Amino acid sequence: MKGIVLAAGAGTRLYPASQPISKILLSIYDKPMIYYPLSTLMLAGIRDILIITNEKDYDNFKKLLGDGSQFGINIEYKIQFVQRGIADAFIIAEDFIGNDDVALILGDNIFHGHGFSTIMQNAIRNNTGATVFGYTVKDPERFGVVEFDADKNVLSIEEKPAHPKSNYAVTGLYFYDNRVCSLAKQLKPSARGELEITDLNKKYLELKELKVEILGRGFAWLDTGTHDSMLQASNFVQSMELNKGVKIACLEEIALNQGFITADELIKQISKYGNNDYYNYVRDVIKHQQLLCFN
Ligand code: G1P
Repeated sequence: MKGIVLAAGAGTRLYPASQPISKILLSIYDKPMIYYPLSTLMLAGIRDILIITNEKDYDNFKKLLGDGSQFGINIEYKIQFVQRGIADAFIIAEDFIGNDDVALILGDNIFHGHGFSTIMQNAIRNNTGATVFGYTVKDPERFGVVEFDADKNVLSIEEKPAHPKSNYAVTGLYFYDNRVCSLAKQLKPSARGELEITDLNKKYLELKELKVEILGRGFAWLDTGTHDSMLQASNFVQSMELNKGVKIACLEEIALNQGFITADELIKQISKYGNNDYYNYVRDVIKHQQLLCFN
């Protein structure tokens, strides 16, 4: 399975902060926002990743993440020249996807919860069309909303409905089979001029091949589209990291745990970075792993 991070938004809601640089490169607590969605794809076991950026921020993303070798993954980049909506990602990424299935995550979506890796890997294994995740929220009218019957079968899915039929928002993480590119090409722009991800999911629903997995109350899902939600996410990450002494979305640590990179390779990769909180943590993780190996 391939993975896409969609990081192409103009982020005008966060101006002036996001005027010189994409909001997805701004920090959530101690690392750039894009680390969080990238960590999600890596935890799903995905190693071939395309980052879709806007024209202005293309070089900045490359400067930060390079070819991904530091994290034992392959990263490619493409530009979305015109903001045509989330589903446009599958038209842009058609060559990259090739004959594979694909996961898409939105660059401003943060997921955190015990066992998420296993949940995603099961979703990938059992996916026969599209699999998305439902999460209860206070303000469903801001999101894609899914309606269920009593047996949790999906009845409908609507984009930002004025009168939501449930409290279940569709999160910004989607798994699709290889038909997704041809289905995306059949979409027509919505009233706001975008190829809507919800319209794509409706196509799978019509085919009876849309699965919605519910993320329970033990999970955190944060959509960091405003200053308040960014601060809230930073506070959440800080509180978790300080309490437990482990980092959320440390890509080097995940790469090591997933076996994407060896400790020796990682030591070489990070040798150029000086003395700072993030890389000192990575050094401690490596030391700890080496001690385990020798004992
Ligand atoms: C987008 C999708 C919406 C989904 C949300 C998750 O909303 O259109 O269906 O629930 O992401 O973050 P937007 O970012 O366009 O507000």
